[in-house]
Amino acid sequence: MYDKVMESVNYIKEKIAREPKVAVILGSGLGGLVDVVKDMQYIDYKDIPNFPQSTVEGHEGRLVFGKINGVETLLMQGRFHYYEGYTMKEVTYPIYVMKQLGIKSIIVTNACGGINTSFKPGTLMIINDFINLFGTNPLIGINDKRFGVRFPDMSEPYKRELIEKAKTIADEIGVEHREGVYAGFMGPYYETAAEIRSIGGQGADAVGMSTVPETIAANYLGIDVLGIACITNMATGIQKEKHSHERVVATAKKASIDLCKWVTKIIENMN
Ligand code: HPA
Repeated sequence: MYDKVMESVNYIKEKIAREPKVAVILGSGLGGLVDVVKDMQYIDYKDIPNFPQSTVEGHEGRLVFGKINGVETLLMQGRFHYYEGYTMKEVTYPIYVMKQLGIKSIIVTNACGGINTSFKPGTLMIINDFINLFGTNPLIGINDKRFGVRFPDMSEPYKRELIEKAKTIADEIGVEHREGVYAGFMGPYYETAAEIRSIGGQGADAVGMSTVPETIAANYLGIDVLGIACITNMATGIQKEKHSHERVVATAKKASIDLCKWVTKIIENMN
């Protein structure tokens, strides 16, 4: 894997001579952040050797390099989900590439369902911990010490310092937000009502189908993570209506106005 990652990295470096320290992973319907990027350059995933491809609707597949409020940033527009059939190593491959590109912090965003009944569609939640319900994880297999240790610590998967920074900035610019635990569910079906009762009982405030693999890989690789989840719907059994991907994306798009405002300020204060 190491050689493959380096091949991807060398290709990217040949094309783009920039050294961002911050990366953002854009969730479903949250791609609007790309519109505020200045001096933009991008590479399609399909052109990067060894890079997986994105298939889900509402996701593009490219790495975007550019300045956000003057700060060099790398945006991942389109992520890989386990439910698409990728292996966990493929899902997290871009994180390994980011590490070798020199990324120090990642802001992970996603669309998810609210379990905490004080949330509502449109709520933005800072993720303060995760529950891995994928039944597997990206670190399974022989460990390559060049990447990280065999038994990584996971006591602070989302960096407390970044959480505090994000909260302070949200208060300053008037972005309403909450904090909570994100459960990563395999998908692609929206959970059953019984599963939601169970997941809620385990301490989750929100549930989605991404973010946890990338967070695990980033922690393993020594990259700080800030997670912001957009509650696009209440989880099964809590909301009366059936789920629809279109509604999820539409709600995420609405919430992305506040999310963009917030994330751009966080990036500006990242250095
Ligand atoms: N469950 C899982 N993933 C999701 C949801 C949900 O309710 N909403 C958006 N992504």
